[in-house]
Amino acid sequence: MSNYHIKHLEEYYQVYRKSVREPENFWEEIAEEHFLWRKKWNRVLYWDFSKPEIKWFEGAQLNITENCIDRHLATRGDKTAILFEPNDPKEGAEHISYRQLYHRVNQFANVLKAKGVKKGDRVCIYVPMIPELAIAVLACARIGAIHSVVFAGFSSTALATRINDCDCKVVITADGSYRGAKTIDLKGIVDEALEQCDGVQTVLVAKRINSQVAMKSDRDYWLQPLLDAASDQCRAEVMDAEDPLFILYTSGSTGKPKGMVHTTAGYMVYSAYTFKNAFQYKEDDVYWCTADIGWITGHSYIVYGPLANGATTLMFEGVPSYPDFGRFWDIVEKHKVNQFYTAPTAIRALAKQGVELVEKYDLSSLKVLGSVGEPINEEAWHWYNDNIGKNKSPIIDSWWQTETGGIMITPIPYVTPTKPTYATLPFIGIQPCLMDEDGEELKGNQVNGRLCIKFPWPSIARTIWGNHQRYKDTYFSTYKNKYFTGDGALRDEVGYYRITGRVDDVIIVSGHNLGTAPIEDAINEHPAIAESAIVGFPHDVKGSALYGYVTLKDAGETRNHDNLRKEINQLIADRIGPIAKLDKIQFTEGLPKTRSGKIMRRILRKIAEKDTSNLGDISTLLNPECVQDIMDNAL
Ligand code: WTA
Repeated sequence: MSNYHIKHLEEYYQVYRKSVREPENFWEEIAEEHFLWRKKWNRVLYWDFSKPEIKWFEGAQLNITENCIDRHLATRGDKTAILFEPNDPKEGAEHISYRQLYHRVNQFANVLKAKGVKKGDRVCIYVPMIPELAIAVLACARIGAIHSVVFAGFSSTALATRINDCDCKVVITADGSYRGAKTIDLKGIVDEALEQCDGVQTVLVAKRINSQVAMKSDRDYWLQPLLDAASDQCRAEVMDAEDPLFILYTSGSTGKPKGMVHTTAGYMVYSAYTFKNAFQYKEDDVYWCTADIGWITGHSYIVYGPLANGATTLMFEGVPSYPDFGRFWDIVEKHKVNQFYTAPTAIRALAKQGVELVEKYDLSSLKVLGSVGEPINEEAWHWYNDNIGKNKSPIIDSWWQTETGGIMITPIPYVTPTKPTYATLPFIGIQPCLMDEDGEELKGNQVNGRLCIKFPWPSIARTIWGNHQRYKDTYFSTYKNKYFTGDGALRDEVGYYRITGRVDDVIIVSGHNLGTAPIEDAINEHPAIAESAIVGFPHDVKGSALYGYVTLKDAGETRNHDNLRKEINQLIADRIGPIAKLDKIQFTEGLPKTRSGKIMRRILRKIAEKDTSNLGDISTLLNPECVQDIMDNAL
């Protein structure tokens, strides 16, 4: 019996039990039956969380693009692989068939080879949501180059940090990008970044907005003429199962961004298997995930997972508000979208617009709705369920992380009964547990603790690029022999999980993970500022927004505070990106600190949340007097 496609609840329990009791047999069967291998593995799994070291399908050889493209050519050559919907609806959609995708990926791969890119080299991809982005990703995978996609909304400083961290020698970008009615000068941002990146030898530039850009000779090349001249045949590099496939940066609570390394075989198997089941994808369905490929959601559930299943995956270049707030629903109607996967922040923004913009469109094609990126609040869940799903399309509230590579806790639609705000049950093969603060596992139901995973799954990130110690410290040192997620969760009376949010200093704003430390570092660069502390506070659209407490070097600073606020936000936009700007900035005379000098964020968080009834004992602080002052002047 094939366990590849789960169709009812008893089957879920049965397959789940098998995946936990005999994980190696289970994954071996899935891998064997549903993927194309150049050579089979010698060992299914080796793991040791204390080192930590994790290897899946060791000894196997494959190329993921042969699984995502070549093997479909015989039966799905003319089927649409990528359905591209541009920013401007008047431009018209583009259907890229599997055969066309094959040719375009090969051409791109040959261009990379001609520029000297070899197996194991790092390639930075800083491209907006146009087909070239997905094609660049696959072209790297074709030749065994490690792609590092950087979200094309990040600033030049953020881009430079990521290029240098993994020594990319090639950067792929575009002349610019469209974002609703605006354009963004991407090439200008790349040029600025590259002033700090000596290792980059080649920049390939896709033409999108036809703007005038500066091209540096012997470094910058227009992509299209090179593609046109390249052969559309390119042998797929044979990769080992544990060869890195990509690096993707994610924010930690401190320090620079972490380059999470995902490897080839396990990532492929898990992203494909979760895609098939979590979305109940059937041949001829049109699947749409609204994320950007610059995030893990786009890697796993726009590119690799869907294509490995021979699916039609929709890529949308624009924003939900352009030309108006009905755009998502317009696209659903136009392309008869069957599975729709988005983030709570988008749902909340759209819910604010009223239902007229929804009712104008025929959404009857929808079968499955997904949510990812942050906890979905009850109100947003019901709005989504009532107005978009019309109470008939199950909502899969899927919990996972950049580090996990694929969906970890989720209802399986039409299989798992849903419950608002609950991610419900672990996916096949996933063994979650909840821990208390003393490091003891909380047994039984109706418990609340810190979410860990006890056993490896195929797509767990294997390391942090260039810093294995940090990988160990961050994920495997808090609890012995367990992967620590950084999230809190509760388990209800039937064993359903509800994710309650981060328990560290990562704040999720509009679905984007932001570490407080890099933002504070950016603010502290301002010459007038002594120190700062960032906390999150509830926001009805963004989920959380950022509140900054800032102390000035000169308390008598006479400059206009509003100007200072603008300067602070400009610094943040330059160093990190506009997504990290602060909604509120309060100037304070001091920040509450412990006697060892640690800022008491818990107190600042409560003040920002306007919940000051129980601040706890503040008498032990170094400077308890500042707390009242901060409360009196809170925004
Ligand atoms: C949060 C995104 C509640 C969580 C795939 C996690 C969620 C972080 C959910 C990872 C969900 C993601 N419910 N919280 N359904 N999905 N999160 O790395 O805090 O961008 O640790 O990966 O988002 O964010 P990342």
